[in-house]
Amino acid sequence: GRVAAVVPAAGSSERMGSVTPKQYIEVCGRPLVTYCLEALQSVEWMSRVVVVADDLARMREVVRGAALSKVTVIQGGGSRHRSIRVGVEALAAEEDPPDVVVVHDGARPIVPLHTLAQVVVMAQRHGAAGAVRSLVSTVVMPDAQDFLEESLVRSQYRNSEMPQAFRFGVLRDAYRKCSDEEADYGTECLALALRHCRVKAKLVPGTPQLWKVTEEKDLEVARALLPRLTR
Ligand code: C5P
Repeated sequence: GRVAAVVPAAGSSERMGSVTPKQYIEVCGRPLVTYCLEALQSVEWMSRVVVVADDLARMREVVRGAALSKVTVIQGGGSRHRSIRVGVEALAAEEDPPDVVVVHDGARPIVPLHTLAQVVVMAQRHGAAGAVRSLVSTVVMPDAQDFLEESLVRSQYRNSEMPQAFRFGVLRDAYRKCSDEEADYGTECLALALRHCRVKAKLVPGTPQLWKVTEEKDLEVARALLPRLTR
């Protein structure tokens, strides 16, 4: 088992505006997080999946309900980086840690297999890799009074999506060097690999289905897309 996955699935989903954290919201009869766990579990060369949750009992129920034999649940939370860090340390503590680790969000129900395979191969070759998409809208930076400070040239940038993959030692060392302050500030693993391990991730163009469920309207998209993709 040389490839493992860490799935951050903690957090309170403030932007969703729901009482239930988004990872547990029912989509077509099943909790949202089930979809990506099943997708990862079904990949033959995926040896194991560590899902990081803040409500352990609830996540264990999801995993039991879907009979996900490769998935283990561990306690995380605080921030996305903190959640991934405990997942990576859980793998590091194993007798036989993986060679490559995939990171995929619990809030991204669709895992395109082609993209997943590509980021794993590119991570083996370059140390790190991640799926990206072209920007739909231009990114601007406001100053403290909400006046335009800077406007980026859209064609020169990408949105960083998931899945991402890393040589295991790269992600482990990146998180060991990541300060607590940093872990609460940023969200991007590729940035940590660059900053702390000087590994420049290979960016792989992904598909539109890689999107993350973030706001209420994303649930409607998920409800329309998922029945067509599963079974
Ligand atoms: O909040 P956002 O949509 O950026 O979260 C991306 C992913 O990170 C989600 O799958 C979420 O469950 C996870 N996360 C986490 N721990 C946090 C915050 C977010 O595992 N404290």
